[in-house]
Amino acid sequence: MSAESQESTRAALRQHLETERLLGVSEVPLPPVERLGSTAAVVPPAEVQARREALDRIDNERVKVCTRCALSQTRTRTVFGQGSPAARLVFVGEAPGHDEDMQGVAFIGRAGQLLTRMIEAMGLSRDEVFICNVLKCRPPDNRTPAADEIAACSPYLFEQLTILQPEVIVALGAPAAQTLLKSTESIGRLRGRFHDFYTSGTPLVGEPTPLMPTYHPAYLLRSPGEKRKAWDDLMKVMDHLGLPIPEQYR
Ligand code: URA
Repeated sequence: MSAESQESTRAALRQHLETERLLGVSEVPLPPVERLGSTAAVVPPAEVQARREALDRIDNERVKVCTRCALSQTRTRTVFGQGSPAARLVFVGEAPGHDEDMQGVAFIGRAGQLLTRMIEAMGLSRDEVFICNVLKCRPPDNRTPAADEIAACSPYLFEQLTILQPEVIVALGAPAAQTLLKSTESIGRLRGRFHDFYTSGTPLVGEPTPLMPTYHPAYLLRSPGEKRKAWDDLMKVMDHLGLPIPEQYR
């Protein structure tokens, strides 16, 4: 299905649900959530609900009230991340910027708009994937996260990934890739190939998840000549997930 027809189906569904709501329908029983792609597994509704509740608990009971590092004193809002609890694909960025800090939603500023276009170019929507960051609070002036901030905050990210059990993780930029892979390699050297990610945080303990590091959208806005490399990385992810690669990119 093309991106356009997906959007018009979504618009029609939204309109239908709005009409139902006006008619007093407050609940719609849902069939199992189909995950994306031809070989996609199905996540049963009870599992989706359990994941949603587990994520909400971390956000509401721990992240929103977190004082583990000094960023809690300068943040406006925490930014937990958002998307589908049944997502096959999770994007991990660095930290909230100004717009995210104001609104409490990940990747909604200029870099976020580019990420949205990248996701849509993959034939997906933001609602189908999950988008979050290493840090849940904005570093002042958008500086790079400090080591102590990453140490304090990244356990939330590891918990999110343990709950979501995605089939693939895309790490956007060096802080995300280095934190998840426990590496000090540059993003230029890490990107472009799948690495094994372990939610246990310990290599070889538990089942690995394929993780693709690529350039951060904010870097791509500064260096548009690198967009092709990022797109090549995302096409490897699409291939892994069995998503169709548009003709013009093959
Ligand atoms: N940059 C990030 O890494 N994350 C956001 O949410 C926004 C900008």
